[in-house]
Amino acid sequence: MYDVYKIRQDFPILQKLIEGKPNVYLDSAASAQKPKAVINKMNNVLKNSYANVHRGTYALSDNITDEYEKARIIVQKFLNARSAQEIVFTRNATEAINLVAYSWAMENLHPGDEILISEAEHHANLIPWQIVCQKKGCALRVFKIGDDGAYLPHEFTKSLSEKVKLVAVTAMSNVLGTIFPIKDIAAKAHKIGAKVLIDACQAAVHQKIDVQDIDCDFLAFSGHKTYGPTGIGVLYGKLELLKSMPPYQTGGDMVDKVTYQYTTYAEPPSRFEAGTPAIVEAIGLGTALRYMQKLGLENIALHEQELVKYMYEKCQEIKDFKHIGSLPNKGGVFSFQVGNIHPQDLAYVLGKEGVAIRIGHHCAEPLVERMGYNSVARASFGLYTTKEDIDAFVAAVAKAQKFFR
Ligand code: ALA
Repeated sequence: MYDVYKIRQDFPILQKLIEGKPNVYLDSAASAQKPKAVINKMNNVLKNSYANVHRGTYALSDNITDEYEKARIIVQKFLNARSAQEIVFTRNATEAINLVAYSWAMENLHPGDEILISEAEHHANLIPWQIVCQKKGCALRVFKIGDDGAYLPHEFTKSLSEKVKLVAVTAMSNVLGTIFPIKDIAAKAHKIGAKVLIDACQAAVHQKIDVQDIDCDFLAFSGHKTYGPTGIGVLYGKLELLKSMPPYQTGGDMVDKVTYQYTTYAEPPSRFEAGTPAIVEAIGLGTALRYMQKLGLENIALHEQELVKYMYEKCQEIKDFKHIGSLPNKGGVFSFQVGNIHPQDLAYVLGKEGVAIRIGHHCAEPLVERMGYNSVARASFGLYTTKEDIDAFVAAVAKAQKFFR
C-alpha cells in the first residue's frame, strides 16, 4: 500500500514552511527533493568513509571503490542493462548526450547523413545534434507532434528515411508530459539501420525503464531528478558501441598505457570517466534508486496516474485554464496558461502561497514556441505529491485570478 503521507516524512524539506505556509513543491520535473536515506548516506560517506576511488592501496580507498562500483551495479539493475560496463557515470544527462554526440556521432556520421529528433526535445537533446550537423555536414530532421502534444506515428515514419543514422528522442516531454512509445520508435529506427538514443530524464522518475526491452543503443538520465544529488548523471550504451567509441574527455583513470607520445585507453566505462569522478554523488544516486525500488516503480507510477487524473478534474474548476499538452495518459507534468495572466506574475503569487512552480521555456524553447507561447507555467509532480498539494495549487491560482482581475 502506497502511503504518500508516510513517504513524505522521508523528505525533511517537505516538513518546512515556505513563506509561512506548507511547502507545496510542484517543481519536481526541474529537480526532485531528496529523501533522508540519500542525505544520510552522503553525509555518512563524507564523515566516515571518504577517499578517492580506483587508486588506493588502503582500506578507505578500497572500500569506497567498492561502494562506487556497487552504485554502478544498482544503476545497471535499475535499467536492466546486460552489464555494469554499459553504465557510464557523467555529470548529468546533458553531459551523457554530449558524450554520444562528440564521441559516437562525430566519428560515425558523414555529410548527407541525418539525425532525427522530435519537436518535443529539451535543449540537451537538440543543441548537441545541431553542432554535430554543422561540423559533419549532416541534416537535423524534426518530426512533428500534435497540437495536444501527441506523438504522431505517421509523422515519425514519414521522416524516417535511409539517410537517418541516429534517432534521438525523449521518453517523456518535460513540458507536455507526453510519453513517447520508445520501444516502437527504436524498432522502426533499427529497421532502417539507425542508432537510437533515449533521453529518459523525466521518464526514469515515472516509469520502469528496461533498456533491453526498449532495445535502445544509448539512454541518458540525471541523478537529481531521480531523488539523488546533483552533479551525477548516467549514460547507458550498448557495450559493443561503447567499446568502439573514442574517449570524450582525457586524463587520469581512463587509460591503459601512457607514454609521452601516445596513450592507449581503458575499456568502458573507465574510458569515459576521466579524472576523479563524482564519488559521493554516484553513491547517493545508488541510494536514491534503491529508495525508489523499495517503494516500487509500479506503485510510484500508479500514484502519479491518480494525481494526473485528479489534476485534470481540479483544473476544470479554474476559469480560463488552458492545458499545454492535454493527453489523458501523460506523465505528471502540467504546463498551462491562465487567462492572460503572465506566467511570471502567476508564479509570484503562487510562490507567496508556498506553491512552487516553474515558468519560462523550460529549456525547450522551440517546443514552447511551437505550442504558441514564449513562456508557460508548469506544475510537476514527484512521488511525494499529494492531492492536497493540487488543492493548494488550485486555491492559489484562484487567488491570483482575483488579484489580477
Ligand atoms: N530540464 C529541467 C526542467 O524541465 C531542468 O525543468
